[in-house]
Amino acid sequence: MSTVNLSERIPNNVDLTSDRRLRRALEQWQPAFLDWWREMGPVDRAASEVYLRTATSVDREGWANFAYTRMPDYRWGIFLADADPERKIAFGDHRGEAVWQRVPGDYRAALRRLIVIQGDTEPASVEQQRHLGRTCPSNYDLRNLFQINVEEGRHLWAMVYLLHAHFGRDGREEAQALLQRRSGDADHPRILGAFNERTPDWLALFMFTFLTDRDGKFQLHSLAESAFDPLARTCRFMLTEEAHHMFVGITGLARVVQRTGEIMREHDTEDVRSFGVIDLPTFQKYLNFHYSVTLDLFGSELSTNAAASYTSGLKGRFDESGFEDDHRLHHDSWPGLRFEEGAFRRVPVPALNAINERLRDAFIADVETGVGRLNRVLRGLDLDFEIALPHVAFNRRVGLFRELHVTPQGAVLDADAWRRRRHEWLPSESDRAYVGSLMPEALTEPGKFANWIAPPSRGIDGRPVDFEYVRLD
Ligand SMILES: [Fe+2]
Ligand SMILES: [Fe+2]
Repeated sequence: MSTVNLSERIPNNVDLTSDRRLRRALEQWQPAFLDWWREMGPVDRAASEVYLRTATSVDREGWANFAYTRMPDYRWGIFLADADPERKIAFGDHRGEAVWQRVPGDYRAALRRLIVIQGDTEPASVEQQRHLGRTCPSNYDLRNLFQINVEEGRHLWAMVYLLHAHFGRDGREEAQALLQRRSGDADHPRILGAFNERTPDWLALFMFTFLTDRDGKFQLHSLAESAFDPLARTCRFMLTEEAHHMFVGITGLARVVQRTGEIMREHDTEDVRSFGVIDLPTFQKYLNFHYSVTLDLFGSELSTNAAASYTSGLKGRFDESGFEDDHRLHHDSWPGLRFEEGAFRRVPVPALNAINERLRDAFIADVETGVGRLNRVLRGLDLDFEIALPHVAFNRRVGLFRELHVTPQGAVLDADAWRRRRHEWLPSESDRAYVGSLMPEALTEPGKFANWIAPPSRGIDGRPVDFEYVRLD
């Protein structure tokens, strides 16, 4: 078991003490990161003490230690899951060979690109969420938001460590650039579309953490298979943190549905806006929006880049070892969803080119499970409204379906008809304004919850729901 050195300026379990050059490079990056955090991190709450967990070791139980911390003092560090000295490459043309501790020259540019794209999403989500502390529905929820924000900051550290440790000067330049792009900025946007969207309210936050953090889970799992062992170990540890982000998403959505459902029953109506809760049609529109922009993150269904990453061992499939095939896929096919002769149908496509689509389909199955949980909340209240995921081709900007105009039910319309009807399916300005109007200010008194959301069933770290998770300054 590796130990975490917490006495260092940068807590780590990668033995930074013995690599002075690397340590110095990271110590130079650290003030730039803190400047970025002050400029683009959560607004207003720099002096508040937040009940946060921090990694102190990477084993199963020991990594989550809870304590009150001011966010700018959070111990952002570098933690890699422990190495397996026997680990072999599990897929692609190098299958069976020992994993790499150094970046092979041939794959340098491609690996750097994968790390930069992953790294870019981490600060982006902090930027997207920075105003939400001003409208939190409870002290408990505020703490969860901040926990996610500091951990996304740590995920940036995780990727920046790899860039500094393994990519020389190019890596240092990329690490700088990660602090320079800004979510939604016209001139220097973040790399991926969904990370330039706004997260203007808490319903959007719960959708984002339910869906977009779940995309993160699938990307990290695929990278955790990488033949480049430091990347695999970094991603394995990040996954332990990511689980909490998705927990915040699904439980947040379930609490919204619970509260809305209670009001629907109490007043025997679906028209619940006059009672100050989120009506289910608006909830469904938010789901449609966040789901479709998140599907775009998986990239094009047919991708020679993804095929090359797989063949060369850089990025595997979700649960690579669970597949009983040759893990090379040169001769395999996969049933891809295509729009042919006026209909959507599954047709066999080369498996190697369909890596993205396959990952996306695994993601969809996982999301379906979550939606099932939301519908169980409604059924538990004897309501017959059904929340449903829209069709895969609905509202796409990336991939094979981007030219089509598809309804959530999968009907293909002409562009004008789709545009005219889009606010039946996607939140309109007035829907967003309504949701925003429910959240006029932060509710921070411990144990109090905004009217539009049910309290959680339990608190964090065994603490009661009305615990003072954030001590306001
Ligand atoms: Fe992350
Ligand atoms: Fe996350």
